[in-house]
Amino acid sequence: MKKTILLFLSVLFIPQISLLAKAENEVFALDLATAFRAARKVVSDKQTHINNPDIGDKGLSSDFVVAQTKVNFEAATGHGFDDTQNQNELYQKSFAALLESIQRVMDQVQPLINEKGTGFKGFLPAVFARQVSEEFRSAMRGEVSIKLTAPKDYVRNRKNRPDAFENKILEKSFRSSGWETNKHVFAEAETVKGQTVDRLMLPEYYGQGCLDCHGEPKGARDITGGKKEGGKLNDLGGAISIIVYN
Ligand code: HEC
Repeated sequence: MKKTILLFLSVLFIPQISLLAKAENEVFALDLATAFRAARKVVSDKQTHINNPDIGDKGLSSDFVVAQTKVNFEAATGHGFDDTQNQNELYQKSFAALLESIQRVMDQVQPLINEKGTGFKGFLPAVFARQVSEEFRSAMRGEVSIKLTAPKDYVRNRKNRPDAFENKILEKSFRSSGWETNKHVFAEAETVKGQTVDRLMLPEYYGQGCLDCHGEPKGARDITGGKKEGGKLNDLGGAISIIVYN
């Protein structure tokens, strides 16, 4: 009898557990990651144009990239970038800081991307993403951080190396067989340098276009002069990592 009641109770409660609302910081961090991706997409959509040696001014002003980031964000989420009235202070401050970071990076790279006569200029989505994340981290120090990282055996730029937590999620979760594609990890009450934080990690995978640089043969030089990782289509290429300090 008791067993039947327990069974009945568990059937009642399990679906509710899975329907528990996402934590506020999880929703915020997911939105921030989407905005970060929305900005990077502007650069990747314009990569061929950026690499064109015949055109001087590329028309990729900081205002253009910010405006297009908002368009991409709205397409991805269905809600407006400027619609932050209902959001908390940290959300509003972070989104403003992200736009300012994009603005600053794009202002700095104008001479580089507008140089006529040069084809490949080394300005890639991942380089843009790193520069934006660096600007963002310094603006939001001690509050929120964004980083694009990768598994240790794949990481190109030492600045993007995973920390212990990131490494654990990359290796034990995202690379484990049976990990659901695109499933993120949100961890509450982790510790970073003595501070309690919430952390989000979102996996990213190599598509066909990534393999020119990250694919095979392993060790061969790509267009950037870097060594190819030997990655294969749909391999885990890296992750967006967000820290929210409490
Ligand atoms: C033209 C060559 C090229 C292409 C194409 C390319 N990457 Fe990269 N990628 C690089 C370089 C160079 C870096 C180092 C950037 C830096 O300095 O931070 C990098 C960095 C990264 C990083 C950050 C971690 C690290 O290794 O430093 C990730 C994640 C990543 N790439 C994933 C991808 C994915 C996913 C794609 C396809 C959507 C892609 N890349 C396409 C060259 C490329």
